[in-house]
Amino acid sequence: MLLKDKVSIVTGAAAGIGAGIAELFAEHGSTVYLIDLDGDGCERVAARINAAGGTAYAHTGDVSRVDSVIGATQTAASRHGRIDILINNAGIYPRRPFLEMEEAEWDQMQDVNLKSVFHLCKLVVPHMIAQRSGKIVNLSSVTFFKGLANLCHYVASKGGMIGFSRSLARELGPHNVHINCITPGAVKTEGEIIHAQPDMLADIQRCQCLDRRLLPVDVARVVLFLASEMSDGMTGQTLNVDGGLILY
Ligand SMILES: NC(=O)c1ccc[n+]([C@@H]2O[C@H](COP(=O)([O-])OP(=O)(O)OC[C@H]3O[C@@H](n4cnc5c(N)ncnc54)[C@H](O)[C@@H]3O)[C@@H](O)[C@H]2O)c1
Repeated sequence: MLLKDKVSIVTGAAAGIGAGIAELFAEHGSTVYLIDLDGDGCERVAARINAAGGTAYAHTGDVSRVDSVIGATQTAASRHGRIDILINNAGIYPRRPFLEMEEAEWDQMQDVNLKSVFHLCKLVVPHMIAQRSGKIVNLSSVTFFKGLANLCHYVASKGGMIGFSRSLARELGPHNVHINCITPGAVKTEGEIIHAQPDMLADIQRCQCLDRRLLPVDVARVVLFLASEMSDGMTGQTLNVDGGLILY
């Protein structure tokens, strides 16, 4: 029970890594607010958590629009008087060669993957400062270190998350609010199945130290560490969860 009585918000929690984080957090005693564009998926994950004895609330919302997510944060804060943990996980990763990329596609990528982090932090950080504690974890990507063709808009957004987190860590440290990033490698999720080609995934696995596909729970466990008091001495850091794809 690493998160007993904590109140968490997890974005993009209807599927993949976000659903894995929400379920693991609930197992560890946290009340979890799930936000996702996919309202039905979000309800399904919340129902699964509640049926297993946890406490979860589903909110349909688009993280790129502040008016769409403010309700979830206000409900959490007024119901519990606090918000302890924010996990910025919602993200998109459609591939597009640079020369074919439209400005609207670039903007959408930045809005969903990066501006959303600005919106959610704006809504949640005042509560964390007032309670003099808080944990924020942002899901970046190992592609920031490696680069990846046809994803320059995505990799730019994920690098932006790391820069944002380092800077905010300096600002929020005096208030005992921690902000860290995780850079997952190739994780078997609903989104990855749509966007990645099987031969590319096989190549990535050959380059990992660990000879297996990563699963959402592999990432969720490290997010749990960063959300719990186990990581109280850390902020502004980026942890790689990639099966040993890059070593540094
Ligand atoms: N799967 C991987 O291999 C991998 C690798 C590195 C980083 N990541 C990052 O981890 C995060 C989760 O990835 P995943 O593979 O689980 O994705 P996924 O596509 O399986 O799930 C993402 C969830 O986010 C939701 N979402 C998308 N846009 C949204 C919006 N505007 N508002 C609210 N919800 C929205 C989707 O509905 C979906 O439920 C992403 O930020 C992704 O960039 C994933």
